[in-house]
Amino acid sequence: MSEGGGARDLPRHKVLVTRRWPSEVEAELARAYDTTFNPDDRPMSAEALHAALQSYDAVLPTVTDRMDASVLSAAKKTRILANYGVGFNHIDVEAAKAAGLVVTNTPDVLTDATADLAMTLLLMTARRAGEGERELRAGKWSGWRPTHMLGTQVTGATLGIIGMGRIGRAVASRCHNGFGMKVVFFDMFPAKNLEVPAGQLATVEDVLAAADFISLHCPGGGENFHLINAERLKRMKPTAFLINTARGDIVDESALVDALKAGRIAGAGLDVYEAEPKVHPELVKMENVTLLPHLGSATKSARVAMGMRVVENLAAFFAGREPADRVA
Ligand code: DGY
Repeated sequence: MSEGGGARDLPRHKVLVTRRWPSEVEAELARAYDTTFNPDDRPMSAEALHAALQSYDAVLPTVTDRMDASVLSAAKKTRILANYGVGFNHIDVEAAKAAGLVVTNTPDVLTDATADLAMTLLLMTARRAGEGERELRAGKWSGWRPTHMLGTQVTGATLGIIGMGRIGRAVASRCHNGFGMKVVFFDMFPAKNLEVPAGQLATVEDVLAAADFISLHCPGGGENFHLINAERLKRMKPTAFLINTARGDIVDESALVDALKAGRIAGAGLDVYEAEPKVHPELVKMENVTLLPHLGSATKSARVAMGMRVVENLAAFFAGREPADRVA
């Protein structure tokens, strides 16, 4: 480490950053560690990740790195996966534990950015903003008229949240305080100390049936895989919209396409997809669907803060302390 005195001569920990990060965070990592960066920002192959786990003390992956059991079984030198992002369903946590790895994530610092983006999708989809912009840019707007591109009123509608964690609560606050919306939600656990009035319903189905806008805020993978399937989509009102800023695999994308085509729901606003960066080709053709490229946490301040959170987790780990954001 480079703290000075006798420590100056000790070898620095070898750290691998799998994608490009904001420059101020990369500078911090370069100062503290013997860090390998990815200046071309190409996603790493499974083989490269496999090899990395044999030669770096710490690997700093993100959502594009599939750290499954076959990759993680290679871990020899690596002791910590300090993930850049709050979601970590791309890491097989049980395999990581079996390989003796500590895993950390970056909660809190992206809550507002992600909640803001859920609102962006909700408003854009309800008010047909993508469709309107496409029409205007194509030179097809013929001028104001009373029946042009009528959307759905957001103010006063009912929001249904699936997963009342930090981001779910932040979306509930925005909808209640800013848009006078009634809020209902499903969560596996009793939700306490809510910032705004919100009714916890017994089942996902109850929320789907009650809400005009469903916003997903639960983790991906595991038991949440295809949580929103054909059966559950049928429970939604035909006038309701589905918003997903959480993880693509929570929604059965083919079932969603079928529901949209059949008019069983009114539209969808999506930031995440089952096979990112591939998007179901039918979704791309639909005017009542807003599609964003996984921008939930994409503000400069959130992305820097996420990186600094990784820096803090690493510093604690290498100092022999418990990292604040340890998830495994
Ligand atoms: C997150 O933090 O989970 C973002 O979706 C990127 O992984």
